Amino acid sequence: MPTVSPGVDSLMSAGPDTQDGGTATNDFFEVVETTRSVRHRLDFDRPVEPEVIERCIDAAVQAPTGMNQEAWRFLVLTESEPKERVARLYRAGFDGLATRFRHQIPPEMRDQKLPNDRPTYVGLAENLHRMPALILVCSEGRPDPDNAAMQVAFYGSVLPAAWSLMLALRASGLGATWTTLLVTEEERVAQALGIPANVTQTILLPVAYTKGAVLKPAKRKGAREVTYWNRWSEARVVSG
Ligand SMILES: Cc1cc2nc3c(=O)[nH]c(=O)nc-3n(C[C@H](O)[C@H](O)[C@H](O)COP(=O)(O)O)c2cc1C
Repeated sequence: MPTVSPGVDSLMSAGPDTQDGGTATNDFFEVVETTRSVRHRLDFDRPVEPEVIERCIDAAVQAPTGMNQEAWRFLVLTESEPKERVARLYRAGFDGLATRFRHQIPPEMRDQKLPNDRPTYVGLAENLHRMPALILVCSEGRPDPDNAAMQVAFYGSVLPAAWSLMLALRASGLGATWTTLLVTEEERVAQALGIPANVTQTILLPVAYTKGAVLKPAKRKGAREVTYWNRWSEARVVSG
């Protein structure tokens, strides 16, 4: 077990949503199957304890890295000023992309509405500065633009930790959303936050305790629809 501050485990197990699916849980399959994008029913007024975030990062950095490089870096924003700067840049990226890909937004995302009838992904953009914590997952270095294997190794050495972090936040009763929009504004984000030029930004996780968020398994294609055995396109033969 990584070293954690005294009392952190009790913070982790005391989720605020004890009556619903957003509660803290250590059940592995429940965590994996209910780690959803949580963009609403979030408690903007309840700070997220730094110790809880560090406990989740301690879990996340158990992920593998190529050549054991551990080049990941986590930039946690809790103060208003950096959060507001990042939220402005996220909205700039959002306006550009949302306009370009408006017709590709799937109905299940468009239909997830806030009480004010705005889609929740719009609400996330509008309220990003109000999130108690924004975690930007970075990696020192740059992927080789001409070498696919090196790109896989580069991102494969940071995104597993990022996903473990999202799972650990979920297990702790926190809501988050995997977002990549901010990368469209990478240079301006780097300037705003003092990130060196040789650091690659990956995902941004807006994090808050949930207020009654119900987290359920999503409708997905099953293993048998997406898995081939021994040769491409060959399904597993099930006897009987
Ligand atoms: C590569 C990637 C990029 C994403 N970027 C954003 C984003 O910028 N903003 C956002 O609100 N959601 C973003 N999402 C969240 C997806 O919309 C969401 O995961 C998807 O709709 C499935 O919903 P679920 O996470 O609740 O299962 C992203 C997800 C992935 C995997």
